[in-house]
Amino acid sequence: MAKDYSKYFTTPSIKDARKRKTKETLTIDYNDYYNIKGFGKNKTYRIETFGCQANEADTEKISGILEQLEFTESKTLEHADLILLNTCAVRENAENRVFGELGRLKQFKKNNPDLILGVCGCMPQEEKVTNRILKKFQYVDLVFGTHNIYKLPQYLETVILSKERVIEVFSEEGNIVENMPRIRENTKKAWVNIMFGCDEFCTYCIVPYTRGKERSRLPEHVKEEVKELILEGYQEITLLGQNVNSYGNDFTDIDYKFSDLLTDLHEMDIARIRFTTSHPKDFNLETVKILSKGGNLMPYIHLPVQSGSNEVLKRMNRKYTKESYLELVRNIYKYIPTASLTTDIIVGFPGETEEQFQETLDLVKECKFEGAYTFIYSKREGTPAEHYEDNVTMEEKKQHLYKLNKIVNDGYLRGTKRFEGKIVKVLVDGFSKNNDAILAGYTENNKLVNFSGDASLIGTFVEVKVTTAKTWFMLGEQVG
Ligand code: SAH
Ligand code: SF4
Ligand code: F3S
Repeated sequence: MAKDYSKYFTTPSIKDARKRKTKETLTIDYNDYYNIKGFGKNKTYRIETFGCQANEADTEKISGILEQLEFTESKTLEHADLILLNTCAVRENAENRVFGELGRLKQFKKNNPDLILGVCGCMPQEEKVTNRILKKFQYVDLVFGTHNIYKLPQYLETVILSKERVIEVFSEEGNIVENMPRIRENTKKAWVNIMFGCDEFCTYCIVPYTRGKERSRLPEHVKEEVKELILEGYQEITLLGQNVNSYGNDFTDIDYKFSDLLTDLHEMDIARIRFTTSHPKDFNLETVKILSKGGNLMPYIHLPVQSGSNEVLKRMNRKYTKESYLELVRNIYKYIPTASLTTDIIVGFPGETEEQFQETLDLVKECKFEGAYTFIYSKREGTPAEHYEDNVTMEEKKQHLYKLNKIVNDGYLRGTKRFEGKIVKVLVDGFSKNNDAILAGYTENNKLVNFSGDASLIGTFVEVKVTTAKTWFMLGEQVG
């Protein structure tokens, strides 16, 4: 039997999600929740994360809130009292995985009626998803979106104490929420949000609707967080935003851009700085020049191109051309000769012709990418491309993906081969997945290296001589 709806019942609307509202910074004081602190005592939680780095960073905030309420993490789903699915809406297969998991969890609910099951993240931001959950997955107790994570204590209070169902998804939201507690996944590498949302509206993409207006965190808040991370012994930070190169464009009373932030962070005592994701249209020469200073600014840039055809780029609303992209790449290699570049590519965008696909292959070769995430276009409800005529068959799209991946894989190998015989600096993450005697870590260029060594090296920097380059990783030996 479905539970009653509580005082919280707000469903999303794609129409409202198109609106952009003025930015506000909310600073949450979790002491406000003193009355319900402790109600997670003797209860465990488990969060399954399906999405990108922004989604992973959100999971860390949700864990932070739950642990403030004194929930503890369960190592398994089976034993958890609270299960949250932190979802991704970017492609249909990501969504199908979540619906599959929800189906599987129905049995868990049957076995344990006290289990609290929640869905959050990007999928609930879609009208059709929340409606489907309301209709078909009535055993879900809690649904919230990307804008109201900070309200989780109130929601849980309602679900647990009043035994009511909570559905609250805000569509139109321009807030930045500071001061959320956080349990970070890693003790040496940290995500640092520098901005939220996206205003690009690439015609295929759902993110501007699920994440709201683009809004930058104040530089002092970002720098304060990095200072704290340094004190806690973190070695590497990754600055997060859907388009980090437009950082600061929304500031009205200060003139402070991504290049300024990099300049300031470059002076700070953090060993490694990475960032993702870059948008080619906003990646200016000034930023390239600052990155060329090296030091803690890592020579690795993820620069999604999506397509090598001007016609397709135009219909994708990417706002750059093949020529301007190639010029940016040339500048990156000119100023940062050791740089590794990776990209994202969509094949089978509606109406993409054989010639246009060929242009993408040519561009991939020319850019000497050392890796790429490649996707078959997935239609997203509510986006402009949903209505574009698509006469490319799935068979053709799959063939294109296969052809593209072959070239991309050559790039991966070229990217590791160039380090054969060289000494690289590795931040050791831990033991390799398949072998407890072998350590694994990443180089400055973001290449995975395996080498033998003992546990005391975990979390430290080690100089490793690369002996063998494979497509997806390198093997090496510790030197010195
Ligand atoms: N903001 C980032 C990444 C967003 S999503 C950027 O602009 O690069 C990550 C990648 O998913 C995108 O770069 C794109 O290649 C892919 N993607 C987004 N929407 C998609 C869709 N509808 N179908 C297939 N791939 C998609
Ligand atoms: Fe999506 Fe484009 Fe924004 Fe990236 S920049 S999140 S692809 S709309
Ligand atoms: Fe997915 Fe949302 Fe990230 S749709 S890619 S989890 S911003």
